[in-house]
Amino acid sequence: MKYKSQQVAWWFFALSGVLLLLQIVYGFIMAFAHLGYDGLHDLIPFNAATATHKNLLVVWILSGFMGAAYFIIPDEAEHELISVPLAKLQFWSLAIVGVLAVIGFHLNWWEGRKFLEIPRPLDYLVVVNVLLFLYLIIMTLWKGKKRTTTSLVLTMGLLFAALLYLPGMIWFDNQTTDSFFRWWVVHLWVEGVWELIMGGILAYLLIKLTGVDREVIEKWLYVIVGLTFISGILGTGHHYYYIGAPKYWLMIGGIFSAMEPLAFLGMALFAISMYRKGEKRHPNQIALYWTLGTAIVSFVGAGLLGMAHTLPAVNLYTHGTFVTAMHGHMAFWGAYGMLVLAIITYSMPLMTGRKLYNAPGANYAFWLSNIGMVGMTTAFAAAGVTQVYLERKVGMDFIDSQQAMEVHFLVLIASAALFTTGIVMFVVNFFKYGRPTDEALEPA
Ligand code: HEM
Ligand code: HEM
Ligand SMILES: [Fe+2]
Repeated sequence: MKYKSQQVAWWFFALSGVLLLLQIVYGFIMAFAHLGYDGLHDLIPFNAATATHKNLLVVWILSGFMGAAYFIIPDEAEHELISVPLAKLQFWSLAIVGVLAVIGFHLNWWEGRKFLEIPRPLDYLVVVNVLLFLYLIIMTLWKGKKRTTTSLVLTMGLLFAALLYLPGMIWFDNQTTDSFFRWWVVHLWVEGVWELIMGGILAYLLIKLTGVDREVIEKWLYVIVGLTFISGILGTGHHYYYIGAPKYWLMIGGIFSAMEPLAFLGMALFAISMYRKGEKRHPNQIALYWTLGTAIVSFVGAGLLGMAHTLPAVNLYTHGTFVTAMHGHMAFWGAYGMLVLAIITYSMPLMTGRKLYNAPGANYAFWLSNIGMVGMTTAFAAAGVTQVYLERKVGMDFIDSQQAMEVHFLVLIASAALFTTGIVMFVVNFFKYGRPTDEALEPA
């Protein structure tokens, strides 16, 4: 690590780890509720648990992206971050907004719009927070010596993600219009601009870990950005099939969303071919596992499992069932969860000077969490197919079909236990590294 200010990333990574653990707690609460054990219902009703689970997910991923940017941008721009105190202020305000939102959900202070449950007053605080973050990143880039393609793609992704938060803040009385614009945030984030953030971070990691020339790696980035935009923007239509939007969306959404897996396939092929081309054997091999894992698991979770229900004729039956949860888990985990853990794994030894990546725990964390996630995805898939058949084909009552699915939640809980063991090992390892030290700085 060359710049002392990169150390501020540690705080964001620490927050990510803690919130991930908390997210998992709420996952278990819901899994037990689906199994028929909803003992916490009076304290934490299902709606509070699900809002908390999903919003903690978004916050820990965003905190990871912010930490990644604070680590990567000074290194790429060859310039210290313009202000560390302001970055710390931004960190604490992010943490406070997160805590307020979670407390609010438990006191029934929330908006019933999936993923955007944070009430509007808190949205304004989010905007101020993100503006401060972007100011720090963009000014550092501006004052820096270099503006690499990698750093520009990453910054563009972060900037567009902030802009796309705004359509979700407009007030609509009409359910269809509200839903229409909610997807501008949710879909255009995960299947649009977050892919730029992913491309930027992956490129940075591959440059560092494989030793392949920056020129070669950055050429791939253009291809990925191109594929993402061609397919992902109009691909939003796969959420407009049956919400009351005009009929032409069936055609547009079907065609363009079916092309979306190409961007993820591009990302997977990119990472694998750079790995094969690279001659450098970087000592931090486990960071390379997480990096390649991101590219591959995201293709399976987002690309293939997304494709599984994106055609209108299929989505007619699968919409809003556990088939969606099957895809949602592996896509989020593979693309963005693993990505955040990859940059943490790469940067921690550099920030702290300690090489815990050789510890056995680091390997088990990788394998247990991934095997667990495959199990969870399979359990959701089995529940989903059962649900589609019983509820939408046979016409069984909602509650009766829910009871018929209970058994699948045993498998979900067992797999989630494996997953959680891996994550606990990861987070314990993280805190064992200790705080960043100045001795870890490379001499100028
Ligand atoms: C990393 C990228 C992706 C992530 C994180 C992701 C995550 C999710 C999540 C969380 C949902 C549920 C959203 C909600 O109901 O509010 C969802 C829905 C959906 N996703 Fe993805 N997704 C990704 C990529 C894709 C791709 C590439 C495709 C298509 C090829 C796709 C197809 C779908 C479809 C059709 C739905 C709607 C399901 C329904 O009708 O209930 N997704 N996705
Ligand atoms: C290990 C513990 C976990 C358990 C037991 C768990 C369980 C659950 C359950 C039961 C639901 C509600 C499904 C429903 O009734 O609608 C849910 C939703 C969700 N969880 Fe998890 N989860 C866990 C971890 C994760 C992780 C690590 C991620 C992301 C990386 C994640 C992402 C999601 C998403 C995106 C949804 C919304 C799915 C949808 O749109 O249908 N979960 N989870
Ligand atoms: Fe989508």
